[in-house]
Amino acid sequence: MQTTTKDRTAIRKDFPILDQKVHGHQLVYLDNAATTQKPKQVIEALDHYYLRDNSNVHRGIHELSNRSTIAFEGARERAANFLNARSSNEIIFTRGTTESINLVANTWGAKFLKPGDIILLTEMEHHSNIVPWQMIAERTGAKLSYIPVTGDDGQLDASKLDVLLNKSVKLFSFTHISNTLGTVNPATEYCARARKLGITTLVDAAQSIGHRKVDVQEIGCDFLALSGHKMCGPTGIGLLYGRAEVLEQRPPFQGGGDMISTVDFFESKWKEIPHKFEAGTPDISGAIGLRVAMDYLDEIGRDRIQHHDEQLSAYAYDKLAGLKDIRLFGPKKGRAGVVSFLLNEVHAHDVVTFADQRGVALRGGHHCNQPLMKKLGVPSTARASFYFYNTTAEVDRMVEVIAEIQKFFGA
Ligand code: ALA
Repeated sequence: MQTTTKDRTAIRKDFPILDQKVHGHQLVYLDNAATTQKPKQVIEALDHYYLRDNSNVHRGIHELSNRSTIAFEGARERAANFLNARSSNEIIFTRGTTESINLVANTWGAKFLKPGDIILLTEMEHHSNIVPWQMIAERTGAKLSYIPVTGDDGQLDASKLDVLLNKSVKLFSFTHISNTLGTVNPATEYCARARKLGITTLVDAAQSIGHRKVDVQEIGCDFLALSGHKMCGPTGIGLLYGRAEVLEQRPPFQGGGDMISTVDFFESKWKEIPHKFEAGTPDISGAIGLRVAMDYLDEIGRDRIQHHDEQLSAYAYDKLAGLKDIRLFGPKKGRAGVVSFLLNEVHAHDVVTFADQRGVALRGGHHCNQPLMKKLGVPSTARASFYFYNTTAEVDRMVEVIAEIQKFFGA
């Protein structure tokens, strides 16, 4: 895929939503870790699908159904290529990261976890990579263990990792990039260490997939989960990558149409992977939109996106660090495009509400990270998260508004 030389102005033209006023001010959208905006190309692909091709997949033999099937399976091929999977059989369409992780917990976990097995997580996981494991641990008798976060600097404690990653661990599931701290975990190194001990690995790529190259063969994971809406795609579509050998051993997830080869009154037989994990009519338009999002990201260039994220995030961190009475979270260097902070005496919700009145969209709260908040000893943080369409001028505007908030609250 050719990387474009489109400049920021041309890129922003692909996102008409950015060009609007909110509460009388130019919108500055800095909530990209929650969801990214969608370029015109993705919106037009959805439009085209519903205006010209809409039909069910894998079932019909009429023209529209053929077109839909080709487009849907083409999206699977494209996803395999985007992740550098060995085959499109390793790509299962889901509703997003949460469903992908639940799928692994309820198929692989239900089959292979035994009493006393350890599921190793980290203290920086969001709820999607905690709650499904708690539920399956309760059913199977497995236990949870967590690699600690060292503190506000947002690093995983390497000495504890050495001890906790041991032969009692059956699964090591960790986030590639923390949605709250901006920490980038060394996924390739962790997977290599786990593999040596025969431990199955799952990488939660929700925050990394749209922001850098993610190559599943290079990372060497068994599973990788992602959401389309955090990478310029539609909401409601995501996928699970699973190594074919691991997927083949697992029972299906949900039962229903399209995942079976034959059904009798008292028993059924399943299709081969990946279809045995996709019961019912899938999100066809979502997969088609996701494919166009992947094309779009590759056209911009994923290395270029990563570089821009890192620059903007470092710029924002330094500018915020220059304010008085501010507590910043996450690593000082090498962070992804996320900056979390707290202003002394001002609740994060007040920060975000005030910023919204000035047109600046931030997120405030626990960021689906309640255990991490407990660890950091705070109820919530305010968070700015960046994408390739954001500019340094927008960061300057955010910092100006935060300084105004400090003045308003006398903080
Ligand atoms: N996990 C999403 C976030 O970080 C919702 O905002």
